[in-house]
Amino acid sequence: MFHLRATVFQTPSRSTFDHLDDVVISVEDGTIAAIVPAGDFDEAVDVTLDENTVLIPGLIDLHIHAPQWPQLGTGYDVPLDEWLFEYTFPTEAKCADTTYAQEVWDSMVPSLLANGTTTAVYYGSIHVDATTALAQTCIRHGQRAWVGRTAMDHPEGTPDYYRDTTAAEGLAASRASIDAIVALEDPHALVQPIITPRFIPACTDELLTGLGQLAAETGHLVQTHCSENDWEHGYVLERHGTSDTNSLDGFGLLRDSTVLAHGCLLSDDDFAVIAERGAGVAHCPLSNVYFGDAVFPTRRALDAGVKVGLGTDIAGGPSASLLANAARAVDVSRHLENGVDQRAEADVRGVDESRIDATTAFYLATLGGADVLGEPLGLLEPGRRFDAVAISLSDIDTVPGGDTIDRRFEKLVRLAGRRDIGAVWVHGRQVR
Ligand code: GUN
Ligand code: FE
Repeated sequence: MFHLRATVFQTPSRSTFDHLDDVVISVEDGTIAAIVPAGDFDEAVDVTLDENTVLIPGLIDLHIHAPQWPQLGTGYDVPLDEWLFEYTFPTEAKCADTTYAQEVWDSMVPSLLANGTTTAVYYGSIHVDATTALAQTCIRHGQRAWVGRTAMDHPEGTPDYYRDTTAAEGLAASRASIDAIVALEDPHALVQPIITPRFIPACTDELLTGLGQLAAETGHLVQTHCSENDWEHGYVLERHGTSDTNSLDGFGLLRDSTVLAHGCLLSDDDFAVIAERGAGVAHCPLSNVYFGDAVFPTRRALDAGVKVGLGTDIAGGPSASLLANAARAVDVSRHLENGVDQRAEADVRGVDESRIDATTAFYLATLGGADVLGEPLGLLEPGRRFDAVAISLSDIDTVPGGDTIDRRFEKLVRLAGRRDIGAVWVHGRQVR
């Protein structure tokens, strides 16, 4: 059992900011056992945060392409289909060399922890060994993670040098990757495999069918890209005569807690199917600026009962910070509400009631992501895992003597970054 004394900022719902002022959190075996006011606690406390530091639930990044880490912040000059072939597939293919891949993972995982990402949902490369090494690296650095070998076998949607040679071979490799990850020694059960068809254009129907069966058989989660932009969405309409959502559903890939990345072009009908299946969306606001062709309607999706969390989409998005993506989620929702073409009349320029606020953005980065994954994370309350991040407000709070608590929270969402992050805990263990 360990006891930590702090003030907590968190969002128990998409519209509620809650602060627990000066409490003691007691943690046993990675799980929160109790939270009581510090004044009512008479045992010794192990850690006390200083009064300018707050504790928040660990950030949950639902969408990261691990092999794209070396590419972060570059290559945003071409559309998605060209970006994949020109920059991304060549970068990912280098992970055939497991020694190289290991260097990338050892640069990335600590950096993400330093950004407050306590839970990461990763696409690995197509390589079983590099992907196993990624899972092992998360365990070693103490990050909670879902790690998926990327499956991709389509002769037109992938390059010759970087694909599963047949559907059967791709399926066998995905099975082998799951087995290898499950077999890792992982005393705190931090890491799980996730079935990862890259997206429909990169996969044959045979592979998609096999991976849907694998999901039903093993019960492991599924992740893929869904209705990301005009090119991708249009391709699926042409190939399968329906939306990504319906197509994935037909392959048995739209399951409880399936993580659908982007979803910029999802329709209301798609939202209804996604909500019905219990799948969720990884909203990647920064990546979508470059590749999405449209703003994901976060508020409409939430109102339709769809679970929504946030993703950096490293390296489709140029920031490794989930907090930066939370702030941008607010910004792009305002672009959607206002509209962006000044030649259009004001009353038709945007989409009314699209804005989200800082509270909703923080919810997406924490409890929203936890709900997508169906895990007891995202909120500091008894029964949930103690994944948490200490954030100093010293450089954020610009008011002499200190701002109001609500405004401190709003400033945290809009202004906090890696430099403000101190200690990080995952499953009750301090990992930074
Ligand atoms: N669609 C298929 N692969 C990718 C990828 O690596 N990044 C993004 N943003 N979209 C994709
Ligand atoms: Fe992506």
